[in-house]
Amino acid sequence: MPGSGAVRLRNTNTIIVVVPYECATGTCGSCRARLVSGELDQGWVDAPGRKALKIKRGEFLMCQAVAQSDCEIRIPSPVSTSESVGTSPRHLSGKVTNLKRLTAEVISFTVVLEEKIGFQAGQFMTLEFPGVNGARAYSMVNYATQTDELEFVIKRFEGGRCSQLLFGKPIENQQLSLFGPLGHAVFEPDLGHDLLLLAGGSGIAGMMAMLQQADETGYLKSQSIHLIFGVRSGADIFYLSILKDLAYRYPQHLKITIALSEQMEDHESNQTANLHIVQAFVHELIEKAATNENTMAFIAGPPPMVDASIRELIAEKGLGVEQIRYDKFA
Ligand code: FES
Repeated sequence: MPGSGAVRLRNTNTIIVVVPYECATGTCGSCRARLVSGELDQGWVDAPGRKALKIKRGEFLMCQAVAQSDCEIRIPSPVSTSESVGTSPRHLSGKVTNLKRLTAEVISFTVVLEEKIGFQAGQFMTLEFPGVNGARAYSMVNYATQTDELEFVIKRFEGGRCSQLLFGKPIENQQLSLFGPLGHAVFEPDLGHDLLLLAGGSGIAGMMAMLQQADETGYLKSQSIHLIFGVRSGADIFYLSILKDLAYRYPQHLKITIALSEQMEDHESNQTANLHIVQAFVHELIEKAATNENTMAFIAGPPPMVDASIRELIAEKGLGVEQIRYDKFA
């Protein structure tokens, strides 16, 4: 059913329609659709993405809604009936293990699933935490073709309900509900692109998965990758030992720049020929990054950093929109 227009959905599994989405958590509004007939449970009624909806016209967020009967809906952007990338998303559950504090503001943990799944490097899952309204989207840090262990990294968000939970009391062994894998900003090694990875804070998660896959598949023997990783200060850098090891092993094809937005201490001992620590914002370093028609840029991080980087890539570097991949978690 390619193209836009009316789609008939039944509450039986007779057809899979790939519909537009970005955050899958009710925040971005990109999954807006209009109910023509039938009944829906609208899900999270306070979802931030509902603010721009014309509720009286029957608009709703597909990522939050559950059909209560056969429904006819109208989607204002292209849909298709075939999943072009990755494994179809599904509901999963798993247990939290290996909770670690990486910096004062960042933690990581692993969720051990009750079954194995496959996903592409760069994809994310939505996680539901007990006592917190709505799901949250987090990219997988690890990569494996099939695995029952998913690693996540989370930065503290001041005043956020999830942050209060995760940074407040131990959640080790907590059972969580997950949905996924989701996301279109995925690494496709077969395409042979040179990669420009632009990460802000915990936005590095999916890029760590890409680097792992690139390392394990020999991708870095032939293609180039430049990672620009932005954090506030030296104390906020995480994954440094992994990045240093990768930089050491791929002196020809891997370049890593860690961008400190606030303070610049002495980082001489951590610098190598292809790993640099500089004082700058991520988007300010794009102008000097090497790009060509074979470059694929990935961006993940706070929305202002994502927006500034997109502007820079298009206006200053002349990249086409098809050369830029990102998922807006907002
Ligand atoms: Fe549904 Fe973002 S609000 S995908």
